[in-house]
Amino acid sequence: MGIAGKILIVDDEREAVENCQRILSRVPYDCVVTTDPRDALEMMVRERPGLVLTDLRMPKLDGIEVLTAAKRMDPTVPVVLLTAHATVDTAVTAMRYGAFDYITKPFTSEELVHVARRAFESVALSSDACLLIGASRGGLSAPSTTDVTRLVGNSAVIGHVLALVSKVAPTDSNVLVDGESGTGKEMVARMIHELSSRSDRPFITVDCVSLPDSLLETELFGHERGAFTGAHAAKAGLFEAADGGTVFLDEVSGMTANLQARLLRVLQERHVRRVGGTRFTPLNVRVIAASNQDLEELCRRGTFREDLYYRLNVISITLPPLRVRGEDILLLANEFLTRFASRVRCDATMVPTIDPSAADLLMRYSWPGNVRELQNVMERAAVLVDGTTVTSTHLPERLRALTERDALQPESSLYKQAKQQAVESFERGFLVDLLKRHDGHMGRAAREAGVDRKTIERMVKRHGLRGSF
Ligand SMILES: Nc1ncnc2c1ncn2[C@@H]1O[C@H](COP(=O)(O)OP(=O)(O)OP(=O)(O)O)[C@@H](O)[C@H]1O
Ligand SMILES: [Mg+2]
Repeated sequence: MGIAGKILIVDDEREAVENCQRILSRVPYDCVVTTDPRDALEMMVRERPGLVLTDLRMPKLDGIEVLTAAKRMDPTVPVVLLTAHATVDTAVTAMRYGAFDYITKPFTSEELVHVARRAFESVALSSDACLLIGASRGGLSAPSTTDVTRLVGNSAVIGHVLALVSKVAPTDSNVLVDGESGTGKEMVARMIHELSSRSDRPFITVDCVSLPDSLLETELFGHERGAFTGAHAAKAGLFEAADGGTVFLDEVSGMTANLQARLLRVLQERHVRRVGGTRFTPLNVRVIAASNQDLEELCRRGTFREDLYYRLNVISITLPPLRVRGEDILLLANEFLTRFASRVRCDATMVPTIDPSAADLLMRYSWPGNVRELQNVMERAAVLVDGTTVTSTHLPERLRALTERDALQPESSLYKQAKQQAVESFERGFLVDLLKRHDGHMGRAAREAGVDRKTIERMVKRHGLRGSF
């Protein structure tokens, strides 16, 4: 993890760099700067910044490349892109590659300071959140983590989800997110919040199934003193506490008929009345609801109110199960491995690679628990692996069993794709180790590997490692 308060600024225009430095030094943040993005990586290692600000369009190496390289060195570092080209596409691409946020040039000093502050806070929150994992189960969850802006995926469906997220985020419309368990519904909800103008206000998660009806009612709407036995003091509900922010109603299908009616009234009338109270407080929250059940079907069966369904479902986002987006599996697996390896080992540069046999199993497994299950499998692998390569022996039995049960189908495109990606991943790891051993000297590296220098140069270029050593 980088040094809190230390910022690396990368922009090919000297004036732009100096401008940012002047503004941020006043806060005060400790700024290190460069106008040559190729120096950025070396500076990451030397200076260990807690935040990277980088221009997007630069002639020698673009901001996305700086972003991905910075993330490889330190997966926890937030990266903010400075862009003169504010398009949804830019935002989507930046988010997909793990940017914390982006700001559009020209920006004000306040905007710059605000985004830097949020970025540092998110890192602090995410390390707190790690400590809270386990303790935070129940009605409310821990505050947002840096995972928020890191919806990983290259598949067309995820591209579609990301485009929709960036389109709906600036609006105030209610959103319904559905998808099987572990597909990323909460992550999408947080992302919408983070990308909205409500991002500096609370994001509050309410698990609608884990609390009994009466408790959920007072949690949501609050109560006045003496509203029921034991109500010794008045308490604001979550709708009031989230004022200006977003309320995420998780597993909304778990609400009883009574609560559904009450919620509908609040959403229609746009004000909240505490249990036992007479006063009305105006409602200023955006509601994002999630369900892993088919709400339309529940409406047909009469267990979910249709009028509430339409209120919540102004915009709907469906997250497809992992098994139908095969091209995301290895991408996510590598991402999680990088994240967990740096937690397990402290040394962020030692990231294991996934060998072809393990990659093949990851690709063929059906992932009933979706991304969450994949995340757990990679966490386990990161702990078990002692060398630099994750093999099938580091995967759980249910995945290894696939080898015997299903014969390999070498012709399937899924297989080919998996193999291709595994080879890429292996090649990259090999190259990084080799060049590290030779301090980036390609001639010597080529001699050790028994190939000619041109081959090494081509590989370095293909893997975007130029100037990394
Ligand atoms: N595309 C993704 N990129 C990176 N991480 C992801 C992605 N999708 C999900 N995750 C991670 O997987 C885990 C499960 O995601 P999340 O909690 O958002 O799922 P969910 O759909 O709300 O699940 P449930 O229905 O069980 O509540 C989280 O740790 C999340 O960070
Ligand atoms: Mg969830």
